This record gives sequence, structure tokens and C-alpha cells, in this order.
Amino acid sequence: MTKIITIVSGKGGVGKTMVTANLGMALLEIGKDVTLIDGNLTTPNLGLHLGIPSFPNTLHDVLKGKVEIMDAVYEHDSGLKIVPAGLSVEHLKGIDPRRLSQVLLGLFGSTDIILIDAAAGIGREALAAIENSDEVLIVTNPELPAILDALKIHKITEEMGIETRGIVLNRISRKKHEMREEEITSLIELPILARIMEDENIKKAINQRLSIIQYKPYSYNSYEFRKLARIISGIPISNLNIPWYRRIFSKYFF
Ligand SMILES: Nc1ncnc2c1ncn2[C@@H]1O[C@H](COP(=O)(O)OP(=O)(O)OP(=O)(O)O)[C@@H](O)[C@H]1O
Ligand SMILES: [Mg+2]
Repeated sequence: MTKIITIVSGKGGVGKTMVTANLGMALLEIGKDVTLIDGNLTTPNLGLHLGIPSFPNTLHDVLKGKVEIMDAVYEHDSGLKIVPAGLSVEHLKGIDPRRLSQVLLGLFGSTDIILIDAAAGIGREALAAIENSDEVLIVTNPELPAILDALKIHKITEEMGIETRGIVLNRISRKKHEMREEEITSLIELPILARIMEDENIKKAINQRLSIIQYKPYSYNSYEFRKLARIISGIPISNLNIPWYRRIFSKYFF
């Protein structure tokens, strides 16, 4: 059965698209059939992160009823299936995000996992993605404004009756000013499923239109995404073959 997971955040720019691309790659590595959907209709950039050339059919065309969803699925070199969003302002005219449920129905059965890269906040495009999900993952940075916004979105998903699987903590630098994990989980009562460090290589990878898993496959962050993929899929993390040096240097190695 197809599972739909939406990657959300309260605050913008915290790393949702990066997490979507990398979690997708990590799920692919463990043999899942993965479809990524760029659900950020106003400022899409999933295609940019993974280097998708200009693609004739987009999610916008599907939402307008111009093309079928299957004709908007781009087959990435990695094996990921990606539904890009239209980049021009023209694409936004006549879009109704509420039609997303029909779009997703059209993908049902054709893929194991759908990851939707949502827009930040609680606008109607983000809400449309959330209400059509089986579960959501909240991406946040370890800073108070991002955490408070994450808490807000958690409350909303709770009210909508959608399960929040947990938090992906991104851009951790372990500096003094940063919020500690205990402070975060006492505010948002959710488990932290992955800890992604601040890493120049993530920027370099995006610049080369690659995921960090492709760019630095043995880095700490790449293993963290592999761990997350296993948690999402219900596979024991002990199956993950972590190199000895990674175990020794633990969170500080990347
Ligand atoms: N762990 C990290 N280390 C270093 N830089 C990072 C990291 N995560 C994200 N970034 C930087 O932050 C930028 C924004 O990330 P991303 O586009 O994934 O955020 P977003 O939450 O999807 O933003 P939006 O809300 O605008 O959709 C990236 O282009 C990258 O430069
Ligand atoms: Mg984004």
C-alpha cells in the first residue's frame, strides 16, 4: 500500500526540501519505490535540488486538470520518481490545491512511498498536503523561533487528526546559543528522529544538484538520513552498517 508522508515546517528555509530529497534517496537505497512531490506551489525548488531539467508537465498542470498525474512523473537518474511544480508565476493561475487528493489517488498503488515537500507554514497549499497525508515529519532548526513555529504546526496537525511521526532537527552546530534537545522535546512532545548537522557539504551538494547521500555517501549526515529511512519503514536501525569510525566519533563526525 502506498504511504504518504508530508515534510512540513512552521518557519521557512529550515531545510524541508533538502530533507525530502535525502530521505527519498535513503528510502530508494533500501529498495523502496519512492515518489517525491513538490507540494510547494508558490516557491517550488525540489527540482532544483535534484537537477531536474525543464520538464513539460508539472503538478500545476495536473491540478489544473490539463494532464494526468502519470504524465507529470519525472524519472530521475537515481531511480527516484519526481513530480515537479511549475516555476513561472503563470503556472499559479487557476490552481486549486484542494484537488491534491485526486492527484494522489492517481498515484496510489504505483509507488511505495510518496514524500510531499510542503510549503512552509499553514497556508492552504501546506494544509492541503497535510490533510492528505498518512503522517507528517516536522523539520526545524534548534532555534527558538523555528521551534515555536514547529510547535504551532504540530498543534494544527493534531487538530486535523494527522499523526506527526517526529522531528528532523536540521542545521545543528552544537554552539552555546542553540536550544538543547531536552528543551526542544519538552516544548514539542515529539521524538527527534534525525539529527542533521550544519554542513558546508550540504550547500556544495545542492550547488551540484545532488543529495548529500550522493555527494558524501559516508558522511555523518548521510547515515542519519539512512537511519531516518529505516525508522520510517519500520526496519531496525541495527541493520544499518555504520563504519567503526562513525560510531566512535558519533555525532561529531561528518
Ligand atoms: N544541514 C545544513 N547545513 C548547511 N546548510 C543547510 C543545511 N540544511 C539546509 N541548508 C541550507 O539552507 C537552504 C534552504 O534549505 P531548503 O531549501 O531545504 O529549506 P526549505 O525549508 O525547503 O525552504 P522553504 O521554506 O523556502 O521551502 C539550502 O539551500 C542550504 O543552503
Ligand atoms: Mg523548500
